Amino acid sequence: QKLQINLEQIEKNGYDHFMLKEIYEQPSAIVDTYRGRMLVDQGLIRMAGVDDNLTKFLNAKRIIIVACGTSWHAGLVAEYIFEDFARIPVEVEYASEFRYRNPVINQDDIVIAISQSGETADTMAAIKLAKEKGAFVFGVCNVVGSSISRETHAGAYTHAGPEIGVASTKAFTTQITVLSLIALKLAKEKGSISNSDFHLYLRELDLIPSKIEEALKSNEHITGVASEYKDASNFLYLGRGFNFPVALEGALKLKEISYIHAEGYPAAEMKHGPIALIDEMMPVVVIATRKGHYEKVISNIQEIKSRNGKIIGIVTEGDQEVRELADYVIEVPETVEAFTPLLTTIPLQLLSYHIALMLGKNVDQPRNLAKSVTVE
Ligand code: AGP
Repeated sequence: QKLQINLEQIEKNGYDHFMLKEIYEQPSAIVDTYRGRMLVDQGLIRMAGVDDNLTKFLNAKRIIIVACGTSWHAGLVAEYIFEDFARIPVEVEYASEFRYRNPVINQDDIVIAISQSGETADTMAAIKLAKEKGAFVFGVCNVVGSSISRETHAGAYTHAGPEIGVASTKAFTTQITVLSLIALKLAKEKGSISNSDFHLYLRELDLIPSKIEEALKSNEHITGVASEYKDASNFLYLGRGFNFPVALEGALKLKEISYIHAEGYPAAEMKHGPIALIDEMMPVVVIATRKGHYEKVISNIQEIKSRNGKIIGIVTEGDQEVRELADYVIEVPETVEAFTPLLTTIPLQLLSYHIALMLGKNVDQPRNLAKSVTVE
């Protein structure tokens, strides 16, 4: 028993919880994801699983992404990235819905299955169905040699290292990194982005780990925000464009480890229903980075403010406009719009971690949840 506890302590590497360790590992995990694949100086992306099947990727009429939970959110971010960079239509499906709804799948569709564990039962079943219908299936998994990585035709590992905390953190950001590399590679091959933009994106992606280090420095400040709102019964998370999926992911993180009800919404959908929930008891986390519909998000913030909602803004370093309206702001460094999710998700992970901790919840092993969902 004692030995077991000591081993766990060693594995946590000085952190109180695996989740916190894994949040802090994200800069190095992302470097591990792109190391050897992204050659910034040479302006090259090399990925065996994509290189070996390049014609299939380039001829794809459509990409269908299947996944569950956080991996599904990474798929949603990838939808924005693939369509923007590579101009390939993308559909993102919950694996559990896809497998039971007689989906239309064509021979020239590519199905991308995303799974940290590589063992999720619904994702596995979706892969089998897609293969039966003749699609080429590409896996994005973290666990090497997992069932999904063996069942798919080809794939790319995230190389994030073991993720022990039930709440997925570094798997999410490394999945987005792998999918961004694929999208950029296809964009270059297809000529759908200019050479100079391609180089700019590589340089920006290369800077993301140090920008995450910067974002992590807000930890103390986020602890203060957490203590202010830890007793709220509901939270709303809003984002637009590339950051709409981040809002969903932020809400999921809070729900699963603190057991506080939270919903993520595209900011503009607020007026179609959720705005009715807003009063002085409702904290609203709004992702309002300067790149990406900034002015529109500001007007959403004004709508919340005029109904006395409490605003926590996730903003770009140096932002003034949101600061004047919000109750709290948490800054992240500036980057290109497509990569903002890699930064904006960091404070949301920390916020849910600290709230759960203050409420005395089991952060690494929340009730009713398993790390891999191997049953339906
Ligand atoms: C995320 O924090 C969850 N615990 C959960 O939603 C998870 O992402 C989902 O079960 C999918 O798991 P996978 O990536 O291993 O397939």
